[in-house]
Amino acid sequence: HPTLSVQRAALLPTEPGHGDPAGQELPLQSRPFSSYGSALHINLPQAPRAGQMLTLLIDYEAGEGPGVCWLAPEQTAGKQKPYMYTQGQAVLNRSFFPCFDTPSMKFTYSATVKVPEGFTAVMSATSWEKQKDNTFVFKMSQPIPSYLVALVVGDIVSADVGPRSRVWAEPCLIEAAKKEYDGVIEEFLVVGEKLFGPYVWGRYDILFMPPSFPFGGMENPCLTFVTPCLLAGDRSLVDVIIHEISHSWFGNLVTNATWGEFWLNEGFTMYAQRRITTEVYGLPYTCLEAATGRALLRQHMDATGEDHPLNKLRVVIEPGVNPDDTYNETPYEKGYCFVSYLAHLVGDQSKFDAFLQAYVNRFKFQSITANDTLAFFLEYFPELKEKGVDSIPGFEFDRWLNTPGWPPFLPDLSPGQQLMKPADELAELWAADGLNMEAIEAVDITGWRTYQLVYFLDQVLQKSPLPEGNVERLSKMYPKISKAQNAELRLRWCQIILKNNLEAEYSKVKDFLHSQGKQKYTLPLYRAMWGGSETARALAMETFSATAPQLHVNVQNYVKKILGLQ
Ligand code: BES
Ligand code: ZN
Repeated sequence: HPTLSVQRAALLPTEPGHGDPAGQELPLQSRPFSSYGSALHINLPQAPRAGQMLTLLIDYEAGEGPGVCWLAPEQTAGKQKPYMYTQGQAVLNRSFFPCFDTPSMKFTYSATVKVPEGFTAVMSATSWEKQKDNTFVFKMSQPIPSYLVALVVGDIVSADVGPRSRVWAEPCLIEAAKKEYDGVIEEFLVVGEKLFGPYVWGRYDILFMPPSFPFGGMENPCLTFVTPCLLAGDRSLVDVIIHEISHSWFGNLVTNATWGEFWLNEGFTMYAQRRITTEVYGLPYTCLEAATGRALLRQHMDATGEDHPLNKLRVVIEPGVNPDDTYNETPYEKGYCFVSYLAHLVGDQSKFDAFLQAYVNRFKFQSITANDTLAFFLEYFPELKEKGVDSIPGFEFDRWLNTPGWPPFLPDLSPGQQLMKPADELAELWAADGLNMEAIEAVDITGWRTYQLVYFLDQVLQKSPLPEGNVERLSKMYPKISKAQNAELRLRWCQIILKNNLEAEYSKVKDFLHSQGKQKYTLPLYRAMWGGSETARALAMETFSATAPQLHVNVQNYVKKILGLQ
């Protein structure tokens, strides 16, 4: 066991999206990943023999890279103490610790973390132990890819919400966090296990992040990270939790081997999420939620053009391209449609559920490609293979994977009609030239679910700009919408404000962007402002210069691009 010590190594980027860590060298000045660190090359004193065990000791420092976020007290909910967190997906963890930073490789890990007095450390690990001297010891005993290693150090406390679940949050948020999810997580886990097989990660805990966390949720194993926006007070945004739980099987157990096939993680997870939602909340609600997902895909494809090369499930990520720059709705919602199509080919839900369970069991702890998935599908259903379902004209598996554009098959969402139809009709009324107030007043939205309101607002947005004066009246008529605290409603309302150039309510856009930094909320609003009037553009500039220091560095850069600052 020769031991090799590399002193003060800088950290390494491999070429992202590619399994080969040797990668392709780019000229130094055009390296888009210079902020992520630099490659660590190790020359062994002698060539190792096959089967020989080698221990490598690397002494390194991390700090400035994009994977590790250092927050000042003002950037936390409590505003008292600093906070640090890491975000690995897709290729940021190379600036956190030396690793083969590709999802094609899995490993176990352990970590000893010493923190200052008054701070707590948590990690994506199967065991957690507090020792003396503010030292925490973690061990992840299942093999995971590098992007799932995660660490938080902050003034955080926890509360139990189920037999294998607790919530973690800053002290000022812990009551709200417990209230939001007490007693509901276990049911999702149990339904997930019934559908997809054993939950192998031991605990399922949830950590509420500071407001600048750039995602709705991040499926770090054993410990999902979520935006504090989920604390809506009424559990209405619980589908994010169900989504992250679903990654426990799709993504964390069976992992995409390259970021070019990210749909294997997200498309299967969307399908699994909606299977769980169907079991727990019923088909109408699930179809309504799926319809809002479809609307997002429509918006995305309209904005980029259906033929955009990113609008296929298998994306070509050239060396030097950051996989995060390829992020969009396609792997999620077109991926969901493809998995739904596979289910449709099978024709029997329980048979398809059994397939999913067999798929997880076959590929657990491995990293795979879509070819592996589809070959296993055809092997599992030999009668379908015989029928040649992989080459039905217009629906070829190859077309699904390699042709950009709108999904050739859409699952039937008509069971959601009972919830969608009233919203469709009401949006129609509000888009009319002379408002029929009698018909509008006859519709009572007080009992509507959040996702019904979201769906209604998506319809209104699609029809915007509305005839002069309509949005002002809508705003006055429904304070439940225009004064909403729920982040999904606030996003839509801000989009409507901007598309209708309702300057009187611009402050709401500003307030929303000051209150949180989620990428999926932030970028659409800056795009809308930048595509709007002079005042809207000024609002964008003013808001960005005030909030930029609080945003995750990647989000900052994407906004700069939108505003032409980069
Ligand atoms: N794994 C993703 C978040 C992610 C994707 C982080 C790519 C970095 C790079 C997570 O599971 C996710 O999809 N979150 C969604 C939740 C939603 C689809 C319910 C989000 O953050 O909006
Ligand atoms: Zn996901």
